[in-house]
Amino acid sequence: MTREKVGGKIAVYPGSFDPITNGHVDIIKRGIRIFDEIIVLVAFNPNKSSMFTVDERCQFIRDIFSGVEGIKVDSHDGLLIDYLIDSGATTILRGMRALSDFEYEFQMALMNRRQTKDIETVFLMSGFQWFYTSSKLIKEVAGLGGSVEGLVPDNVHQKLLEKYSSKGAR
Ligand code: PNS
Repeated sequence: MTREKVGGKIAVYPGSFDPITNGHVDIIKRGIRIFDEIIVLVAFNPNKSSMFTVDERCQFIRDIFSGVEGIKVDSHDGLLIDYLIDSGATTILRGMRALSDFEYEFQMALMNRRQTKDIETVFLMSGFQWFYTSSKLIKEVAGLGGSVEGLVPDNVHQKLLEKYSSKGAR
């Protein structure tokens, strides 16, 4: 019997979260109304190089959701489905933004399901105001001294300002 059948419906919300944005936070807050538990998983994307360490990324998320029931934070540097199998979860939660996300998400969902039929990916549409928010653009704009206030949680914003202060970020 999987953990889900014993202890409620668990979703794993994987991503690079480099760093977590308010768009991700919105997905987690809405997701926890559907699932009993969400494991926010800082996972390894071999196609991206990261600005923040895995520990830093996890800590941002832990601080944001500290005391919120049902939200756990973990990291994993292997295959996503192996993490799900080991944790007993069978649902992957992902956010879907503009149309440009669709093909990438579709490929990953089908590849994950090809490996084990028990695993389903569930998508939540991004909140309207986060439709074009991405960690990549946030780092780019912050790095060039632009304002990303309101697009990332306060702890992330503060860290970005510190990181780029020597380069003249506003
Ligand atoms: O936030 P991202 O970078 O779009 O998230 C992508 C992520 C980390 C979920 C994806 O790269 C992933 O699942 N990585 C773990 C390794 C894996 O299982 N790769 C095969 C995916 S089909």
